[in-house]
Amino acid sequence: MAILPIRLIGDPVLRTVCRHIGLDELRSDKIQRFIDDLIETMRDANGAGLAAPQVGHPLAIAAVLVSDNPRYPYKPNFPLTVVVNPTLTAIGEASEKLYEGCLSIPNLRGLVSRAMHVQVDALDRHGNPITFDVHGLSAGTFQHEFDHLEGRLFVDRVEDPDTFCTWDNFDRYYKDDFVKRAESIVQQYGG
Ligand code: NI
Repeated sequence: MAILPIRLIGDPVLRTVCRHIGLDELRSDKIQRFIDDLIETMRDANGAGLAAPQVGHPLAIAAVLVSDNPRYPYKPNFPLTVVVNPTLTAIGEASEKLYEGCLSIPNLRGLVSRAMHVQVDALDRHGNPITFDVHGLSAGTFQHEFDHLEGRLFVDRVEDPDTFCTWDNFDRYYKDDFVKRAESIVQQYGG
């Protein structure tokens, strides 16, 4: 396994609509090794998720893992999940504004509106169809990763540019309030 370099905003690969992968290609050694590297890179960078274009490959593959994440200590744990060719469907109307950050956009956070209940339809890394519902802050994480596969970044979705902040300024000015709100989101929606 290898740790891959993470592409940063301005790299055109982050603005590419990622292509779906056929079963034979997905099951190839090359793609299976790539998925291992994507997971390893996500773990190494303490990402809550990582999408293939962030390591330079415009393929519709993303990984999510939250395990006592130091970058997002208020996020509930979520088991390692690899989605291939995913579609996301919002369930109901509930949405909340969440502070997001991104490994491809160093030292910036901003407030983004996300659906609180989504259904994910995808293939797992072996090509088996999977469907699951995801809620709350975890739903936000999946929407962020899915956006990457469509060439979208969280900065595109920040409605109020006044909410952009560095990570230090997030800690200094906004964290206490947001952590309280994050706790109530977890209580209200789960995940
Ligand atoms: Ni990101």
